Amino acid sequence: MSNLASEQKWNWWPLLPLYPYGKKRTIFRELVPNQIWSFEQLQGIYYVAVPVRLLVVRVKNELMIINPLPPTDELLRDINVLQEKIGPVKTIVLPTASGLEHKIGLPALARAFPNSKIWVCPGQWSFPIQLPLDWLGIPSKRTNILLADGFPYSDYCDWLSLGPIDIGLGRFQEISCFHKPSKSLLVTDALVGIEETPPELFNLDPTPILFHSREKGSEELIDTPNARRKGWLRLVLFASYLRPEKLKIPKIKEILGNSFKQNLRNKRAHFGIYPFSWQEGWELSAKKLVGKKSPLIQIAPVIERLVFPRAKKAFICWLNKIESLQGISWLISAHYSGKVRFTNNDVKVLKNKIDKSNWAKNAEDSAFLSWVDRKLLKIGIVPEDSLEKYSD
Ligand SMILES: [Fe+2]
Repeated sequence: MSNLASEQKWNWWPLLPLYPYGKKRTIFRELVPNQIWSFEQLQGIYYVAVPVRLLVVRVKNELMIINPLPPTDELLRDINVLQEKIGPVKTIVLPTASGLEHKIGLPALARAFPNSKIWVCPGQWSFPIQLPLDWLGIPSKRTNILLADGFPYSDYCDWLSLGPIDIGLGRFQEISCFHKPSKSLLVTDALVGIEETPPELFNLDPTPILFHSREKGSEELIDTPNARRKGWLRLVLFASYLRPEKLKIPKIKEILGNSFKQNLRNKRAHFGIYPFSWQEGWELSAKKLVGKKSPLIQIAPVIERLVFPRAKKAFICWLNKIESLQGISWLISAHYSGKVRFTNNDVKVLKNKIDKSNWAKNAEDSAFLSWVDRKLLKIGIVPEDSLEKYSD
């Protein structure tokens, strides 16, 4: 194994088998000069992979990690460069109660920084039964609970809770951080900015987007700028709606008929198996989700439809808190685009848009998510009133 390949190794992947499995490449970027750095990895299921981001934030001459990710040697090497330049990692924050993709990396990250203090969002849930933090690999001796034990660096950061929302199997809650020195709002899943062009991370390996740029499994994966763009838009549709309206699953006979063609009998092309067929109009649906010149800031449709259908009030309440932040200038989310312009006025515009929109949509692209929500309600997994349980 080459040196770089071994640095990208992540041995714990069977715990959460997400693409690209045992090999995680990381892109290291400075998002706000001398203040905030981002580490991006690709995460997803069956070639529906979107970038997920860990942040390193400077507070005075110390570093705070927000949104943990699996600490490959490659990632740790770059954090060490920052430690030498700025100062030690003193704090690690897991600001989400449900975000598995961040939870899974926390134990190893905590071990990599044995002198750091850990802060976690309240209500950490494990499925199918609730386990103590130590059983989840989170060292309770140096762990604090956000809200209950206060907040780290409260002179430099404002911490804003979204939720908790009872989602049946557990709770949805995230505690966003407004980092005053950089005027940036750091969020996990609640808001994302999506752009029309594929993220830089796909330059390392465009396979997941090329995979979706085709019409059927018998087509080869050909790398052109247009194919990348097309595949990216389809991937955004997948990640947003799970089952977009313009996506059909062909008959098994048809799928197999197009599979296992010469040149495509390899793992990269999934042996030519492409069980999807895109209908006319898919591009129009995708364009509603992406911004042309700058990323389009939105509440991720899957969150809106499955976490908040009966809790619009909680979401607006969180936006109100954001609107009153002094000098807010940037949004930095854990998914999609890294740093997006976001001012008090942008918050107001977003709030108005949400207020006027049909919140729990159940037609067109939202039809599948709406169906999932109704099923979960019917079998009693999701409660009718998702706010009641925590209204203290
Ligand atoms: Fe997430």
